Amino acid sequence: MRSVMLLGLALSLSAAAEEPDLDNGAFLHGDHCIECHMMDDHEALYSRENRLPSRFRINGQVSACVQALDLGWFPEEESDVAAYLNATYYRYED
Ligand code: HEC
Repeated sequence: MRSVMLLGLALSLSAAAEEPDLDNGAFLHGDHCIECHMMDDHEALYSRENRLPSRFRINGQVSACVQALDLGWFPEEESDVAAYLNATYYRYED
C-alpha cells in the first residue's frame, strides 16, 4: 500500500515538472553518456560539422542511445538530457 502511494507521488511530481531540468540532465549525462563519447572527445561529437541538424533530431538520438543502452529512463529524463545538450552544445532555438 505504501509503495503504491509513493508511486502515485512520484508520478504526480514528474507530471508537474513540465520545464526540463538542466541540472538533472547534466547529472544523468555525466553518469551514463560520456563514457563512450570520451573515448574520442565527446564535445567534438556534439559540435562536429555534420552533427545533428535540429532540436527534434537531438530528442530522437537521445532516445535511441538510451534504448541502445537499455537504461529504461522516463521520457522526462530523456528530455532533461536533450535540453542540457542543446543548452550546452547545440544552442538551437526551439
Ligand atoms: C556505447 C557507446 C555510447 C554511449 C554510452 C552513448 N553514446 Fe551517444 N553516440 C555514440 C556514437 C558512436 C555516436 C555517433 C553516432 C553516429 O555517428 O551516427 C553517438 C551520438 C550521439 C549523439 C549525436 C551527436 C551528433 O550531434 O551527431 C547524441 C545527441 C548522443 N549520442 C547522445 C547520447 C546520450 C544522451 C547518451 C546517454 C544516454 C549517449 N549518447 C551514450 C555512442 C554512445
